[in-house]
Amino acid sequence: MSETARIILEGKEYEFPVIVGTENEKAIDISKLRASTGYITLDFGYKNTGSTKSAITYLDGENGVLRHRGYSIEELADNASFLEVAYLLIYGELPNKEQLEYFETSVCHHTLVHENMKRFFQAFPPNAHPMGMLSSMISSLSTFYPESQNPNRSVVDIERTIHRLIAKLPTLAAQAYKHNMGHPTVYPSNDLGYVGNFLKMMFGLPTANYEVDPVIESALNKLLILHADHEQNCSASTVRIVGSSQANLYSSVSAGIAALWGPLHGGANQAVIEMLESIKEDGGDMEKWIAKAKDKNDSFRLMGFGHRVYKNFDPRARIIKKAADEVLAKLGVNDPVLDLAKRLEEVALKDEYFVQRGLYPNVDFYSGIIYRALGIPTEMFTVMFAIGRLPGWIAQWKEMLENGEPIGRPRQVYTGATERSFVNINDRS
Ligand code: SDX
Repeated sequence: MSETARIILEGKEYEFPVIVGTENEKAIDISKLRASTGYITLDFGYKNTGSTKSAITYLDGENGVLRHRGYSIEELADNASFLEVAYLLIYGELPNKEQLEYFETSVCHHTLVHENMKRFFQAFPPNAHPMGMLSSMISSLSTFYPESQNPNRSVVDIERTIHRLIAKLPTLAAQAYKHNMGHPTVYPSNDLGYVGNFLKMMFGLPTANYEVDPVIESALNKLLILHADHEQNCSASTVRIVGSSQANLYSSVSAGIAALWGPLHGGANQAVIEMLESIKEDGGDMEKWIAKAKDKNDSFRLMGFGHRVYKNFDPRARIIKKAADEVLAKLGVNDPVLDLAKRLEEVALKDEYFVQRGLYPNVDFYSGIIYRALGIPTEMFTVMFAIGRLPGWIAQWKEMLENGEPIGRPRQVYTGATERSFVNINDRS
């Protein structure tokens, strides 16, 4: 007999079904709450509210577990290519050789973007933030592929739109970087593979050969996998709610990029490096900055620390921290900011304030240090996060559509003025 939840409101008892997920997570299904009781729930930031049922990613925040379609992030990061993980997230299974070859070939045949898009970049100021450019460019893709705007899309159309987006986002990201550097565009080289092609578009020049460094390529492949999906985070929820109105995939992902930009979300990786550099310039007094982070009257937060779900440790942070040591050693890079980050983590995790609140380093705490070592500028860090997160956004959007979920439209508790009559301008005080 399945469990139910009983609540008593104004002396009347109501029962609601309890649903249990495959990892034994339990939820009270309140989809009929308002119709049967007239009440709604209120949950700022949706900290206790599930928006959907999903089979893509499982998180266990207390035990630091992250799995994609049942595979642990540790195994995927060590053994898979980024496009293999993208395929797994989007289609639900690891691809066999033929499926992966088809997927890679299809993606690699869509890496070019319309030449007109160069004019958009020319219109941006030279110091335009690449996240602002990327969000605009991804949304504008829907104007070049009007068939993608058809809400009753065929499976073939949806697949082509998905492959186009995975192919073109790195091309547009690299063009944003070249715009800011004042360098000429480097066109895609599809023989280099997904990560190698991106590195060449970023750091190559039209007039010179570019050798992909296998150490950098492998590190970037791992970093992209570690960012690939994270269930119903802020940006994935944004993609879902925009897509729930049957807006096209490009517009939905453009909104997700905008949400990711925020320093409390994906923008934290840029904010972490800026924070560490401020601490370094200020003399490296850890205790002073930890005290500021704990001071309720100080708006300073320890960027890269804390998480809505992980109240133990973010498994991705562990993997990235280890990779940072390996990559910097292989590249012969000695970055004092890495030493500072390790010291800050050590001091913070001895402090009761952080331990009591379950505040540990998250995915953004160490990722910027590797990006720096790979030669990627700070303002491009969140763009790297977006490239990694794209397959997750697509998988969430596709699942929402395939499940026929309704348009997202939360309710509210109104706390404004009660009814009053209009007052003519001459009679107002
Ligand atoms: C990402 O959701 C995801 O999955 C996101 C992500 C993904 O892959 O998509 O994992 C990626 O966004 C990681 C998070 C990156 N953001 C940062 O590193 C910014 C710094 N972190 C914080 O702003 C904060 O920890 C959040 C936003 C991440 C989580 O905030 P919550 O869950 O809303 O927690 P909260 O703000 O209610 O904080 C609980 C307590 C508060 O203190 P008290 O009111 O209990 O006294 O912890 C304190 C907060 O003041 N706190 C911090 C802190 N984070 C929380 N205090 C100092 N420094 C911090 N970083």
